[in-house]
Amino acid sequence: MKTTLATILVLSSFSTVSHAGEKEALIATGKTKFEQVCIACHKYERTEQMIAPPAFAIQTHYAQQFGENEAAFRKAIVDWAKHPDADKTLMPGAITKFNLMPPLPLPDEDLDAIAAYIFSTEFTEKCDMKGMEGMQNGMGKKAGQRMKAGNAN
Ligand code: HEC
Repeated sequence: MKTTLATILVLSSFSTVSHAGEKEALIATGKTKFEQVCIACHKYERTEQMIAPPAFAIQTHYAQQFGENEAAFRKAIVDWAKHPDADKTLMPGAITKFNLMPPLPLPDEDLDAIAAYIFSTEFTEKCDMKGMEGMQNGMGKKAGQRMKAGNAN
């Protein structure tokens, strides 16, 4: 019994380590692929002559929709790159401004790595969300109090 437990503990700690390593490798692959393909149109910073939204803007809009749900975030980006579709857009203003993105049907695993990279990266330039965050925090507190009151009844 003791041996089995020790074995399980050792094995599971190994798998945690290799899991973290796999994730890093995935993100590194995603960065490479992003910089080979997507960066032709999606820059890291706002530029004078943008032809598509910058990477951080995509991240912001997809994070607003999917929050911490990384699997859903990644799936939406993979699906999008294969079949851009105005009915599925989370950035309707970008379509008006730049026109619909052409399909980029890379292999699913490449697109998924790119999506993992977009999900996990702290881009240096970000959308200015300060004002909005302030509002959300304020609302969050009040909503929290209201919920507590509701639960007490
Ligand atoms: C030829 C230029 C071009 C390339 C290359 C390109 N995109 Fe785009 N992409 C656009 C444009 C233009 C938009 C904004 C209009 C839109 O949303 O369709 C966009 C929008 C997006 C959006 C937001 C979609 C929405 O409307 O919700 C995602 C996600 C995206 N691109 C992912 C990628 C990924 C991943 C790659 C690389 C595999 C990539 N793009 C490569 C032009 C490009």
